[in-house]
Amino acid sequence: MKQLSICRPDDWHLHLRDGKMLAAVIDDTSRHFGRAIIMPNLIPPVVTGADAAAYRDRILSCLNPEHHFTPLMTLYLTETTQLHDVADAAKRGLVHAVKLYPAGATTNSASGVRDLEKVMPVLEMMASIGLPLCVHGEVTDPKVDIFDRELVFIETVLDPLRRRIPELRVVLEHVTTSDGVDYVKNGGKTIAATITTHHLFINRNHILAGGIRPHYYCLPVAKRESHRRALVRAAVSGDQSFFLGTDSAPHLDTAKLMACGCAGIYTSPNTMSCLAHIFEGESALDRLEGFTSLHGPAFYQLPINKERVTLVKQSEPVIYPKSRATPDGELTIFDCGFPLFWAVKS
Ligand code: NCD
Ligand code: ZN
Repeated sequence: MKQLSICRPDDWHLHLRDGKMLAAVIDDTSRHFGRAIIMPNLIPPVVTGADAAAYRDRILSCLNPEHHFTPLMTLYLTETTQLHDVADAAKRGLVHAVKLYPAGATTNSASGVRDLEKVMPVLEMMASIGLPLCVHGEVTDPKVDIFDRELVFIETVLDPLRRRIPELRVVLEHVTTSDGVDYVKNGGKTIAATITTHHLFINRNHILAGGIRPHYYCLPVAKRESHRRALVRAAVSGDQSFFLGTDSAPHLDTAKLMACGCAGIYTSPNTMSCLAHIFEGESALDRLEGFTSLHGPAFYQLPINKERVTLVKQSEPVIYPKSRATPDGELTIFDCGFPLFWAVKS
């Protein structure tokens, strides 16, 4: 197959940042994607409906008028989140999910939740109105090895929470382990998982073997090869519980290349080429549309995009720049390690 027409994709987990960074990165998403779930981990975080409305307006004001892109806003759950504010923002169609960051789990998560008990009333309300909870699925206990944090989260936080509020609809964000995949696969209709582009390509050797590669460092950190294979199998399986959330997370090179560098990989520009490469390698190009464009809207109970995009396989590799320039410095684009032949044409 040399050409593939699919319903315009959506990105169900995206960091757009704010200010100059937002202006520098938004085109890389709006060029190809119809919608994206916008992560709320700004400084300060997007906590209230008013915060989300103001952030949405800042995003829209940076948008290329030729692109048809809708940001889907989320709220950052804190222990002082106001139940009525969340309910109101959801009813108005402003907010499409609430994000749970265990305090300290990742970039800008200091205002996250320490004691789940404190947010139970909000979670129960969300279950009653069908508003999804997106979870950063890692425990933060320093005694837990960083490679085990997802599994321990599932066992000690996620599963008990879902038993307590079975109607709560949950997205296990950026799943990185076969344990997470199995949990979601067997978890029924109230749970789904996003899978990032980079976790389909890299395992922990890519980060650490033969020299440390900060541009492959993200959270949750990539795991061993058998886990990467499980993610690929889930993505190409056609199972509706799995869909794309790039977790494209831009950080300036100056913030990545230091003694204690930031977590996050910038994948928006070449994500669709990367995904076509993976799906073709698994003889599953016919399932790419489900993963990028159909399963996500089904879970979020939104219509699929009316527009379509065409992916064309070229004889020469598509050339993506190594980095984006921003007014504050360079931003390295994900290098998947393979020449990419699939280009997005419209
Ligand atoms: C994200 C960021 O930089 O905001 N970083 C990352 O490594 N994925 C936060 C997150 O999603 O964990
Ligand atoms: Zn993220």
